[in-house]
Amino acid sequence: MKRLGILISGRGSNFLAIARSIAEGRLQDTDIAIVISNVADAHGLAAAKELGLPTALFSSRGRNRRDHDADVAACLREHNVDLVCLAGYMRLLSPEFISAFHNRILNIHPSLLPAFPGLEAQHQAFDYGCKVAGCTVHFVDEHLDSGVIVLQRAIPILDEDDAHSLAFKILIEEHIAFTEAIARVLSGEYEIEGRRYVRKKPA
Ligand code: GRF
Repeated sequence: MKRLGILISGRGSNFLAIARSIAEGRLQDTDIAIVISNVADAHGLAAAKELGLPTALFSSRGRNRRDHDADVAACLREHNVDLVCLAGYMRLLSPEFISAFHNRILNIHPSLLPAFPGLEAQHQAFDYGCKVAGCTVHFVDEHLDSGVIVLQRAIPILDEDDAHSLAFKILIEEHIAFTEAIARVLSGEYEIEGRRYVRKKPA
């Protein structure tokens, strides 16, 4: 059984999509070992409790990144987590945390990276006048939204879209993409060649 540690800061819809994928058998032999929030009133944290999942709160307000992340890392280790999923975790990670979980942290970002890293990516794509948008699941490295890409899902931006409808459509793709990326990474059937995530070649 593979064990996920999920980090959230807010709404938690990606976390709930992962939980649904497990419940409905799209993610097999996988458990959510712990849901960690850095925000006390995160909706996702309340939702995790309602589902009866183990949860932890490490409020990051006023704490230095290194100390805060050390607490989070200790909690993930206590719960024997195989893979850390950043599901709307709105805080940069310390280099110590990233190297402790090297190539074992996935993030989901609502743009086709490397376009539009950072905040409000869907709005950025819309305002730029892009004709295609989407989401990216990638490994986390020491730079913002920059690690090796596991998968992307793209959608057209239609004339009748506005920034709100676009963000909603991207979110639907995110929910599919995160599950798929987790399944691929947990399968172990891949290699990382430079920046490229590729299926393992038969020996
Ligand atoms: C998502 O758009 C995700 O791509 C970004 O933050 C948002 C989190 O939404 N990193 P939710 O909390 O999963 O609903």
